[in-house]
Parts: sequence; C-alpha cells; structure tokens
Amino acid sequence: MNILMVCLGNICRSPLAEGILKSKLSAEHFIDSAGTSGHHSGELPDQRSIAIARINGLDITDQRSRKFTVKDFDEFDLIYAMDRSNYDNILHLSRNDNDRNKVKMILNESFPNENLNVPDPYYGGDQGFLNVYNMLDQACEVIASKIQ
Ligand code: 4NP
Repeated sequence: MNILMVCLGNICRSPLAEGILKSKLSAEHFIDSAGTSGHHSGELPDQRSIAIARINGLDITDQRSRKFTVKDFDEFDLIYAMDRSNYDNILHLSRNDNDRNKVKMILNESFPNENLNVPDPYYGGDQGFLNVYNMLDQACEVIASKIQ
C-alpha cells in the first residue's frame, strides 16, 4: 500500500502521522506526507513535532516538507487529510471519482463517521503536540491493523 498523510504545512501534523504509521507497518508499504500549502517546502518538521516523536522513540528528521500535487492521486492508494480544510483543498484538485475515493479524514479511522479534525498545533504549546501525537497514534493503530 502507498499511503499519503496531508496537512497544511507538512511540518507539524502529517510528518508525525507519517512517522507513526511507518513505525507500525513493514517497509514493503510506502508512507509519505505532504502539505496543501507550499509555504514550508524543503523544511524539516517543526522542532516540537521532532521532540514529541523522539520522546516516543521515533526519528522524523529525515523528512522534508513538500507540497501536495495532483500526481499524488496516481501514486497513492489512500490519502489521509488531517482536517476538513485539508480535505476540501485535496478534493479541489481531484479529477474524478477514483481520485476522490482515495481521500479520507484520518480521525474517521478511530472515530468513524464523526469527521473530527486533528487540531492544528502550530500556534499552541507542547501540550497541543502531545494531544496530536496521541490522536494520530490511535488512528494509525487502526489503519495498521486493517492493512496487516
Ligand atoms: P501543519 O501545521 O499543517 O500541521 O504542518 C501548520 C504549519 C504551519 C502553518 C500552519 C499550520 N503556517 O501557517 O505556517
């Protein structure tokens, strides 16, 4: 399976989702992340994401931010949006139902049909990153259990 995690900047939430899901799946699966905005392209994940990942035994410092593109619909089987705004921005680039059917709200894995957002932690403190980490860990556990 090729799975893409998408947020706005690809420096806070989706790098964590990428790192967490990778840690739960074998290397035969390709997991990547991207942002709907290109504002942080080429940057490392946010230091607070790096820190909360490290506390949990994950190294995400090999990641660099990149922008989501329409080609991602061809490369990935599943595309997980962190929030409704990301979801709408991804769907805006979709070309057909095949593209659209790949796009899911990630927290619907752990809270089906609730369409909950992973809150953007960028302007908050460390507690926000811990909260995001725990939400994503729970959702990725469900994703990994379905795939393996
Ligand atoms: P992310 O968080 O979408 O989880 O990577 C954000 C990162 C940067 C900004 C907003 C959200 N920003 O406005 O620069």
